[in-house]
Amino acid sequence: MTILVTGGLGFIGSHTVVALIEEGFKVVIADNLSNSSLEVLSSLEDITKENIPFHEIDIADEKVVISLFEEYDFNGVIHFAGYKAVGESVSEPIKYYRNNLLTTLTLADVCKKYGVTKFIFSSSATVYGDNNVPFDETMQLLPTTNPYGETKAICERILTDLANANTDFEVALLRYFNPIGAHPSAVIGELPKGIPNNLMPYITQVAKGNLKELQIFGDDYPTQDGTGVRDYIHVMDLAEGHVAALKNITTGVHIYNLGTGQGTSVLEIVKTFESVNNIKIPYKIVDRRSGDIAFSYADVSKAKKELNWSAKRNLENMCRDSWNFIQAL
Ligand code: NAD
Ligand code: UD1
Repeated sequence: MTILVTGGLGFIGSHTVVALIEEGFKVVIADNLSNSSLEVLSSLEDITKENIPFHEIDIADEKVVISLFEEYDFNGVIHFAGYKAVGESVSEPIKYYRNNLLTTLTLADVCKKYGVTKFIFSSSATVYGDNNVPFDETMQLLPTTNPYGETKAICERILTDLANANTDFEVALLRYFNPIGAHPSAVIGELPKGIPNNLMPYITQVAKGNLKELQIFGDDYPTQDGTGVRDYIHVMDLAEGHVAALKNITTGVHIYNLGTGQGTSVLEIVKTFESVNNIKIPYKIVDRRSGDIAFSYADVSKAKKELNWSAKRNLENMCRDSWNFIQAL
């Protein structure tokens, strides 16, 4: 099977490429390098010992996407390409709506024209808003506080309508919880540009000495220790979730949470990171970050039952692999 991976040089896409090749899939990567670099391609070729076809193209550009579909006989697509910085989506909403919606519309349209009916989409737990935990796939989506979240909800709707109108389509909407960690080789991982917004990239920069201390956004939430609780998942587990989705998908539209089902607080992450890596992470408690919720964790029973997939790596593995990648840079 030949799979088109859009955004395949990004954080989750690159790990998924490794998991796909390990399982015998042929992969073609399309990425415009807006948030990644060509070095990732050589790291992927080092890990997999394969030449991986790569196209530097914009997935929102219909003409070039059509030429790609003319060149290869795809059996399915995994669509990671998009922008993901929540804060930036608030200050530059049009940029987010344009890129996230146009890439999805263009790719879906070309898939339909070429009869490529397996479509796996990167959605986010953010679409649940402030529902009661654990979040399950049947819950009504709540409005998110930012354009990024809206783009995910809208793309889910577009792909659902597409599958309803074309009954040969097999669509999986994968709602990721909080991916962290890195491939155990430490040659691919997550390295955001500028000052990180998300917790683990911030912690690793503090560990490296590039940032002075972690700011913990609030310790007065109704959680075990007052800090925010999230469902952190190792990026290799998440990557393997995509392989499971490709292998098990059937016609129609199917939504799956990809998380561990475990809620971990900010202080618990900090403590685990410190003990696994033997590094002190200085922190101070500051005000809550606007738009944050107290709890986010998944009910993971549907993916386990229907995809025969569940996360295997623990928080220690995630903290160790995140640090090993940053340390090796
Ligand atoms: P990433 O930014 O590392 O990867 C996205 C890749 O897509 C980048 O390599 C970028 O260059 C590419 N890209 C962006 N726009 C493109 C375009 N128009 N044409 C071609 N390539 C384009 O992000 P990631 O963390 O790997 O996330 C992948 C997907 O998963 C995104 O859609 C994101 O919204 C979604 N997601 C991520 C998280 C997370 O916490 N990382 C959580 C939920 C959902
Ligand atoms: C982020 C995204 C969300 C996305 C989710 C899963 C933001 C604002 N939201 O949310 O849209 O669906 O990832 O990928 O980016 N924290 C600190 N200090 C920091 C950074 C974070 O205390 O410097 C806390 C946060 O308050 C939160 C937890 O750490 O309680 C995790 O934060 P983060 O990594 O940003 O992820 P989410 O808030 O879950």
